[in-house]
Amino acid sequence: MEKATLTYQNHVLELPIIKGTEDEKAIDISNLRKSANLITLDLGFQNTGSCMSSITYIDGEKGILRYRGIPIEELAEKASFSEVAYLLIYGNLPNKKEQESFSRRLTQNSMIHEEMLRFFDGFPPTAHPMAILATMVNALSVYYTDYYTEDFQAETFDLIAASLISRIRTIAAYSYKHSIGEPHVYPRRDLQYASNFLYMMFDSPVNPYVPDSEIEKALCALLILHADHEQNCSTSTVRLVGSSMVNLYASICAGICALWGPLHGGANQKVIEMLENIKKNNFTIKQCIESAKDKNSKFRLFGFGHRLYRNYDPRALILKKYCQNIFKKFNYDDSLINIAMELEEAATKDDYFIERKLYPNVDFYSGIIYRMIGIPTNMFTVMFAIGRLPGMIAQWKEMHDSVPLKIGRPYQIYTGNTLRHYVPLNER
Ligand code: CMC
Repeated sequence: MEKATLTYQNHVLELPIIKGTEDEKAIDISNLRKSANLITLDLGFQNTGSCMSSITYIDGEKGILRYRGIPIEELAEKASFSEVAYLLIYGNLPNKKEQESFSRRLTQNSMIHEEMLRFFDGFPPTAHPMAILATMVNALSVYYTDYYTEDFQAETFDLIAASLISRIRTIAAYSYKHSIGEPHVYPRRDLQYASNFLYMMFDSPVNPYVPDSEIEKALCALLILHADHEQNCSTSTVRLVGSSMVNLYASICAGICALWGPLHGGANQKVIEMLENIKKNNFTIKQCIESAKDKNSKFRLFGFGHRLYRNYDPRALILKKYCQNIFKKFNYDDSLINIAMELEEAATKDDYFIERKLYPNVDFYSGIIYRMIGIPTNMFTVMFAIGRLPGMIAQWKEMHDSVPLKIGRPYQIYTGNTLRHYVPLNER
């Protein structure tokens, strides 16, 4: 085995090199503390691997993203969301029998317990849909109690995983219906995953939902493109929380909360708000680019930059095409798409963005498509969560199946006071 050597205080330490299947290399430092009383410090985990995983491969320099080895471009073009969910969770594309049984499980578990509908009445109208989603996912554990991890059975996991994927979509659609004061619409057993979601969102007794294959295809592709992205902030949260052996619902709830942040999944909402702001205030593209570069300004170009991609995010390339197709087909009167394209053109020619390798990420165009589909802006991150769920479940399962299962527990370098003593209140 290849080794790296580290010299410290006259000791020469040999550290094993771990190799991945794509020739990625890591120094295994797990014995460093034992052998040299040293830990490693890497703020924001900019250079730290937290696990070995066979789910998703990303080469940020080349703009490559693959699920279980299959390029994202092929999956977005040819696969259904349920096939991709199965692929991520179980490792291979399902055969006909597996696909049928997985789809059956999705259909049979698509409704939520009727008593849970009362939860929606308790949320104020101003509640953010991500807060509702996280709460409701955690609340599922109260109604569906076959989740205990101590006697974790494969069939129990299969059922919980499929029901969670199915129910998250029902919860999202119900929370939208509740927010606009309309009765909720029950899922249908004859519709595919994305179509069923659109039906539950947009059907009403007075205004029947009219399906459109282009929109359904775009939504399916959006969900697939979001389905996993290896050890990002929310997925790492799911793994870390899940490593305490807490149930899947609680782990996913934590992941959804992490996803909500504007530097992560919340960026898709921020992109549209940014574009609307540019339009409303008649800002020029030049002004925006200059503020994004100005370190004294809080303005960031949302939808730009990525920790891993130092090239075009392959998901953004695919979404740009869907965005343009839907825009043309329906002749949308939406100047935001033009502002977005002008921003992209200006930023990708600007030295600041070129030097830092900042390109549009998945959130840059996804919001514009959601908007064209009719999804309200504050639900964009919920859409991200629905798409990301199979990946979170797959990562949770992989972590649980790993031997030995170690609880996640990083170290720190303490920088506080050294020993001092309690002083009573009247002496302070
Ligand atoms: N606009 C302006 N400057 C930026 C941007 C941006 N969007 N992104 C990065 N920079 C600059 C940053 O100021 C820094 O400059 P300097 O080296 O002079 O200090 C440099 O580029 C490196 O940025 P960083 O913040 O150190 O990079 P990071 O890897 O820690 O952060 C990021 C990645 C995605 C949080 C960041 O690029 C960002 O805040 N982007 C905007 C938010 C966004 O679109 N997030 C969605 C990410 S994709 C969906 C997902 O997977 O979550």
